[in-house]
Amino acid sequence: MRPSPPLIPVANPAAQLESHGILVREAIERFLASGQYILGPEVKTLEKEFAAFLGASFCIGVANGTDALALALRATGISPGDEVITVSHSAVASVAGIEQINAVPVFADIDPASRCLNPAVIERLLSPKTKAIVVVHIYGQPAAMDEIVSIARRHGLKVVEDCAQAHGAELHGRKVGTWGDAAAFSFYPTKNLGAFGDGGAVVTNLAEVAEQIRILREYGWKERYISSIAGFNSRLDELQAAVLRTKLPSLAGDNVRRREIATAYCEAIDPAKLTPPKAVPGTLHAMHLFVVESVERAALRDFMRAAGVGTALHYPQPIHLQPAYAGRIRGGNDLRETESLYRQILTLPMFPELTDDQVETVCDALRRWCSAS
Ligand SMILES: Cc1ncc(COP(=O)(O)O)c(C=O)c1O
Repeated sequence: MRPSPPLIPVANPAAQLESHGILVREAIERFLASGQYILGPEVKTLEKEFAAFLGASFCIGVANGTDALALALRATGISPGDEVITVSHSAVASVAGIEQINAVPVFADIDPASRCLNPAVIERLLSPKTKAIVVVHIYGQPAAMDEIVSIARRHGLKVVEDCAQAHGAELHGRKVGTWGDAAAFSFYPTKNLGAFGDGGAVVTNLAEVAEQIRILREYGWKERYISSIAGFNSRLDELQAAVLRTKLPSLAGDNVRRREIATAYCEAIDPAKLTPPKAVPGTLHAMHLFVVESVERAALRDFMRAAGVGTALHYPQPIHLQPAYAGRIRGGNDLRETESLYRQILTLPMFPELTDDQVETVCDALRRWCSAS
């Protein structure tokens, strides 16, 4: 029996390396020759360039996106025991970042159209301990930041955006990451802007928050070796910053290509047979992940595999049903939309280096599934 060809992967960071190969190798040479390996000139320049890309005042490079969330919360004044409203339909990191500073997550349900936090449920979750909201722009879809920020302001809550999946996404022409008090980005290799290792950043328009993060990311040092407050070790490497700087100029174009691929997939889908991501007015999707919904998910997954198309689940279980969190997080018993969505979601291949032939293979499989079902 002939071995079947490899499936089209859902993500492919190696293809990014291929497409940026020469520039990445030049950046690595520059890094090797520099003699500075952590928090040096590459990090400083990346911070300026990424802030400029977003239209934000400050960017501070840190070790990963989970730390970025923890640091953003700490620097905006969230303390142990404070409650932070967020969603269960996310990567577990959204909650891990909250618990890293001993704050207390509280779960809010999602809006089924955007699959992001539903602003309409926030007020019924408030308690005297509520101090912040972590808003996740899941899959690259901007959440309703205008409504969420105005509710937060009414109740004196801080807003931290989890932009790990949404580099370059926009709401009403303004980039996500610039709406709240601070925002966390991940540069995990598969992200829209990915390093070749771990990396992250906090972005803010507030000078005092930026200053706090700079201090907190390195042991609370204001002055070298003297901790003014108890901090973290969450530094970004020069190597990762150098790689990210070579890729940043392509991010906007890569996102355009992602959206083109999404348009092709949507055109191939009959929405009566398979639910594509919904278009949310006023938003520009970063298309980190292309996620469809089907009540026949297992069969669809098998069908795709037979057609040579890889799939994944983001995520197989919402956070409140995972063993580490089940039954212990307030709000977890009232997540109807979250619980109905997760059983139906399926992630299809989505990365800018997908060839036209690969896109056509996915489209052909989608058309065949929709006409047969
Ligand atoms: C929504 C979300 N938040 C936070 C993170 C955390 O990022 P990192 O893996 O860099 O810690 C990720 C990435 O895995 C993510 O997808």
